[in-house]
Amino acid sequence: MKSAALLSALAAATAVHATPTTTVKSKPRATELEPITVTGNAFFKGKERFYVRGIDYQPGGASANIDPLADPKVCKPDIEKFKTLGINVIRVYSTDNSKGHDECMNALGRRRHLCRARCQQPAVLDQPRRPHPSYNAVYLQSVFATIDAFSKYSNTMAFFSGNEVIHDHKNTTLAAKYVKATDRDMRAYIKARGYRKMLVGYSAADVTDNRMQTAAYFNCGSDEERSDFFAFNDYSWCSSDFITSGWNKKVEAFTGYGIPIFLSEYGCNTNTRNFGEMESLMHKNMTGVYSGGLMYEYTMEPNKYGIVEIKGGQDKGGVDQTGERKELPEFAAFASALKKFPAPTGDGGYSSTTKASECPPQDEHWAVETTALPAIPEGAKKYFTEGAGKGPGLKGSGSQWAGDQASTSEGGSATGTSSGSSTASSSSAAIRSTVPALNNAPLIVSGIVALFTLVGAVAL
Ligand SMILES: *[C@@H]1O[C@H](CO)[C@@H](O)[C@H](O)[C@H]1NC(C)=O
Ligand SMILES: *[C@@H]1O[C@H](CO)[C@@H](O)[C@H](O)[C@H]1NC(C)=O
Repeated sequence: MKSAALLSALAAATAVHATPTTTVKSKPRATELEPITVTGNAFFKGKERFYVRGIDYQPGGASANIDPLADPKVCKPDIEKFKTLGINVIRVYSTDNSKGHDECMNALGRRRHLCRARCQQPAVLDQPRRPHPSYNAVYLQSVFATIDAFSKYSNTMAFFSGNEVIHDHKNTTLAAKYVKATDRDMRAYIKARGYRKMLVGYSAADVTDNRMQTAAYFNCGSDEERSDFFAFNDYSWCSSDFITSGWNKKVEAFTGYGIPIFLSEYGCNTNTRNFGEMESLMHKNMTGVYSGGLMYEYTMEPNKYGIVEIKGGQDKGGVDQTGERKELPEFAAFASALKKFPAPTGDGGYSSTTKASECPPQDEHWAVETTALPAIPEGAKKYFTEGAGKGPGLKGSGSQWAGDQASTSEGGSATGTSSGSSTASSSSAAIRSTVPALNNAPLIVSGIVALFTLVGAVAL
């Protein structure tokens, strides 16, 4: 749990996505890549099965909250490293669409022809105990604008509709229907705008009590409502093995699940890391049920999971991520695991038929009482025909914290009590001291955004 809290802090730094994209159908400059599609419970690239063999990439972590794909001075040296590693997917937590992404996205595309940027959506809900106001037209405009911005790059593989919104407190499961509604709306938007195939799914926290319910929930109901995939974060493998880590049990539990699954974060830093996870992820023990995973994480941050240190990158809130890159010993270890355990040939024993799950019943760990999803807010409907238009940007008000939502007290609690572990408070302190300095814009919303996201995600 300790690491999960830190991690969600990072993940939650997603903040808001801006998008000045006006030319929705602008000609892609990246080498056109085949989209990743879904058949049954697996990803495919054309006729070939596709496994996520990737890394989580967010230099500066939560406190810096920078978009690494908006600055060629940051992304380009890292893309070189990605090439050395031999990964095929990156996940980026924070994207600022008030900036251009052409240079980085094209560099990614040109490199291994396999690098795909995962563009994480902001966590939908600042407060899962009071989730409804967060699911609004202002928020959806921001989400859709982000889709517009990245739709022009053929190396955009997927979007997350939320990350770790549902956490270990039972009440956070109440947020599930709003995240799922967002997930549905994102998929509908991609379709309505005639974009190339980009997948949409949810990234779940490493929480035993509700992992299976969450998985079932995002894959139940009508086809429009069901996610394209399900991902979860998993920190249970500590330089151990398939059985000691309990991964064998998880594979059993997920056997028969009807959409692709992969790990959106995996890792452990209590032992020397040898990345033996790769062996099992690429082994028939798992490939019939899982489609790979993303190693957490690329840069060394205060929570100590990184494999590359950026000179000066941890100073001053991590704002400057342009320094010299130093490979830590884990870099070579990860590269060697990737090389040693390539994606298997053949179909990996996947199941070719997709299958909806039963919606989970309400119980001691799952509070959602109905399978009905909220209808899309009236004000958001026009985006399907008109497009989302200009995104509000990291400094804008277009977020779940827009308007009066922003004035709620910290802690993600409707009662205003500030809950949370010491981890949560120290992390939020870090955010509080760094983010406002980043944004001298008249609107201080982004400072509040980061604070809320962070505390909301960690303290629940
Ligand atoms: C969880 O939600 C219930 C019902 O709204 C509420 O009574 C309870 O106080 C909440 N628990 C916490 C810890 O917020
Ligand atoms: C595969 O599963 C078997 C049986 O559970 C186990 O003994 C073996 O170590 C596993 N191998 C890998 C690479 O996961």
